[in-house]
Amino acid sequence: MTSVKIERVVKETPDIYTLYFPAVAGARSGQYVMVWLPGVDEVPMSLSTIGWASSITVRVVGEATRTMSELEAGDRIGVRGPFGNGYTANGSNPLIVGGGTGIASLTPLAEEMTSKGVKPTFIIGARSKDQLLFKDRLSHLLGLNLAVSTDDGSEGYHGYASNLATEIMSHGKFDQLYICGPEIMAVNTWAEADRLGIPTQASLERLCKCAVGLCGSCAIGPYRVCKDGPVFDSAKLLEVAADFGKRRMDASGRMIPVDH
Ligand SMILES: Cc1cc2nc3c(=O)[nH]c(=O)nc-3n(C[C@H](O)[C@H](O)[C@H](O)COP(=O)(O)OP(=O)(O)OC[C@H]3O[C@@H](n4cnc5c(N)ncnc54)[C@H](O)[C@@H]3O)c2cc1C
Ligand code: FES
Repeated sequence: MTSVKIERVVKETPDIYTLYFPAVAGARSGQYVMVWLPGVDEVPMSLSTIGWASSITVRVVGEATRTMSELEAGDRIGVRGPFGNGYTANGSNPLIVGGGTGIASLTPLAEEMTSKGVKPTFIIGARSKDQLLFKDRLSHLLGLNLAVSTDDGSEGYHGYASNLATEIMSHGKFDQLYICGPEIMAVNTWAEADRLGIPTQASLERLCKCAVGLCGSCAIGPYRVCKDGPVFDSAKLLEVAADFGKRRMDASGRMIPVDH
């Protein structure tokens, strides 16, 4: 566990904040850190910046994330990690589909690809225009290869990111798909990619407590999201199809439906 000083906080949307701190050594796109808030909790957060500094991008959903949203430059947090397998940058014509804070872990992947001369097509989706994450950062990086969807039609395609992905996949010849976001969006996008034979890497979320494969709170099928994931390739997605998009364990170990 390292204590790090927050250097900058950016309010991205009404309930999403990015906290910048000194670079986590050796991190790759798609990996996450465990963030310790003394007296509150320790929770997993994907790295949304990799390189010159690190950042996490947090949506307020409960006590730990609310505490993070109230932090200011100069405050300190505990950071463990990086953990997890991360994405593998494959293909010469990749498609990236991110919804909500799922866009956070996919943005460093797009930056890694462009630095290697591969320009991905990136769909970012949100409920409405004011919830879109990293639009300027990605538009600067990808230009016309950035597509936007909003559920309410306030910007870009009117509908779910998974529906836009289905349309775009039917026109383009993509050789790799990356997904991170609400599980219903992820499972629907993957189903279409599977039908078309496009190899997929999807980042999954389950409750993570230890982050090192010991406690079992993040189990999905035969795997632990914290250690075997969070990124699952097509073969592993098939193995966890009975749970993916359907059910997960709550904090007391009961199976509950995945909320979309
Ligand atoms: C690998 C990984 C990476 C993540 N990256 C991000 C990120 O970049 N940005 C971000 O905002 N959030 C991310 N999360 C989710 C984040 O960890 C949770 O939202 C956070 O722990 C909630 O803590 P809380 O105390 O604020 O809310 P709680 O009160 O603990 O939870 C609020 C609600 O969210 C549900 N929930 C909490 N954690 C999870 C989970 N892991 N999977 C499904 N449902 C959950 C709870 O059951 C409850 O209904 C990530 C999770 C994982 C496993
Ligand atoms: S978080 Fe403990 S096993 Fe995955």
